[in-house]
Amino acid sequence: MCGIIATVGRASAVPVLLDGLKRLEYRGYDSAGLAIVTDQGLALHRRVGRVRELSSGVPADLQSTVGIAHTRWATHGKVTEANAHPHLDGGSRIALVHNGIIENMGALKARLEADGVVFRSETDTEVLVHLVSRYYHSEDEAVTAGDPVAAVRAALRAVRGTWGIAVLFADRPDVLVAARNGSPLVVGLADGQSYLASDPHALVPYTRRVVFLEDGEMALIDANGVQTFQQDGGRIDSAVETLEEVWGDEDAGGFPHLMLKEIHEQPEALERCLSGRVIPETGTAHLGGMDLNPRDMARLSRVSLLGCGTAYFACQVGARLIEDLARVPAKAEIASEFRHRNPVVDPEALFLAVSQSGETADTLGAVREIQLKGGNVVGVVNVVGSSIARACGRGVYIHSGPEMAVASTKAFSNMVAALSVFTLMLARQRTLSAHQGVVYAEQLRAVPGLVKRYLADPGPIDELVKWVTDSRMVLFLGRGISAPVASEGALKLMEVAYVPCIAYPAGEMKHGPIALLEPGSPVIVVAPRDDVCDKTLSNLQECRARGARVAVIHTEGDDIGELADLSIPVPATGPFFSPLLTVLPLQLLAYRTGLVLGRDIDRPRNLAKSVTVE
Ligand code: M6R
Repeated sequence: MCGIIATVGRASAVPVLLDGLKRLEYRGYDSAGLAIVTDQGLALHRRVGRVRELSSGVPADLQSTVGIAHTRWATHGKVTEANAHPHLDGGSRIALVHNGIIENMGALKARLEADGVVFRSETDTEVLVHLVSRYYHSEDEAVTAGDPVAAVRAALRAVRGTWGIAVLFADRPDVLVAARNGSPLVVGLADGQSYLASDPHALVPYTRRVVFLEDGEMALIDANGVQTFQQDGGRIDSAVETLEEVWGDEDAGGFPHLMLKEIHEQPEALERCLSGRVIPETGTAHLGGMDLNPRDMARLSRVSLLGCGTAYFACQVGARLIEDLARVPAKAEIASEFRHRNPVVDPEALFLAVSQSGETADTLGAVREIQLKGGNVVGVVNVVGSSIARACGRGVYIHSGPEMAVASTKAFSNMVAALSVFTLMLARQRTLSAHQGVVYAEQLRAVPGLVKRYLADPGPIDELVKWVTDSRMVLFLGRGISAPVASEGALKLMEVAYVPCIAYPAGEMKHGPIALLEPGSPVIVVAPRDDVCDKTLSNLQECRARGARVAVIHTEGDDIGELADLSIPVPATGPFFSPLLTVLPLQLLAYRTGLVLGRDIDRPRNLAKSVTVE
């Protein structure tokens, strides 16, 4: 989604901005732009499309030591050059980039237009730059005129919504102003050079010394460092932190695509998540970052898991594990729905906010709602130091390593693995016997090896690819713990290959979706060996009886494959951990179908990696 990079100091700004934009590309965007201060005033360059197209249009001899840049993922207004950021005020003396949404844009725009302001874009952001300009340039605004921080502060008082902004003033090439409310910003500090970014990843080549801005804060940044302020007043002392876990460059490492690389990284990613946490000798698990003692765990009334997209499906797996193994009522909930239904927050419950990026606005919004109502929420997050991780203050890092492809694969597996570890820990504190704990711990520890074995020889995926490439619709079915796996498979095939899919709990199929089946309709059934497997097979038969072509993903060694048109066996594990195996063929199916259909696999259309708006 939208990304910001800005810099001020001794170094030439343009190479830093272009490099930063490239590092933000993985988030997903549709246009890019930059503004710098030159001897002639502000210079603006914007392009629809990729950063490389922007780079090729920026003259190599552009000299400047201060600038702001942006990758845009359209919210208000079409994908056009005029709507790309930065946006300029009427006199082209102020430039501004913005992540987030200005909710009262309509009223503000009408007021500005009535005062004679001419708008050049359809964006909500443009109101902000005109407001800053009004407070910065107007003689009537004695308190704010000529004062960059005061002018931005006054402008922000008028707006409602979310923002992470960077503002550049043609007559103050020594400073940048930033403000955060709901969209992350981090200031990077180096010797004689400072940076601002929406994502620490963009700062990696330059510095690890950073100041994270919090909601309601502003910053005045110059070559020598940063001063931070409350948006509504005085100075604050912000801690300078060191980025500990720094992600390297986006690099497919010999694979044709990042997605395929990340699928194949799952054995080692799972190993990282499990090792040191699962203790097979005692059948227990340890997650220090959760900061939960046995008494807390014994008292838990329920567990609620919140996430969006793939993270939500991981939450569904987690909820089933927790309820079944640890015998605590557990429920998964779509984070984007949570705070809009005025939820009752039980102070005795534990909430888990699950997110790869740690920046998903809907999940972060749910965290804030829980905290506001006195609830107990911990993060289950991949990106260290991300907004959700910091807002929760405690939790579990899933340790999948950098996931840069828009389609989530290894993060799903590591979310499920981390939730499995949590379940084992909770279950042993409550009802699970040491003997059973040892069995589950050993099963979990064996999973990375089984994933590796499956990926080395994944079976007839290409045959399935042939079925789905031209299909009008693919139906995914699964029961119990496999229902969310079916949903995840459908999501993956839709987002990577743009093939229409629906996923249903297998038993629900006969209550509606069965009407869609006609001879040859592809149906993918997830049926590992567990206590609902036989029931799923009845549903499989119902599909075949209507002429559908059925592929079944099942546990190797079972003769279930004979019941279907195509059999895809996966290595056997305990029934609770089967999603870590059954999801693999579905990831490969999405990847290979996208490949055959010539899709932009790592950057599917319209999607963003980090969804930082509601
Ligand atoms: O970063 P998060 O895990 O919070 O992201 C949540 C969803 O946006 C994400 O899982 C999305 O559904 C993926 N593109 C799925 O592959």
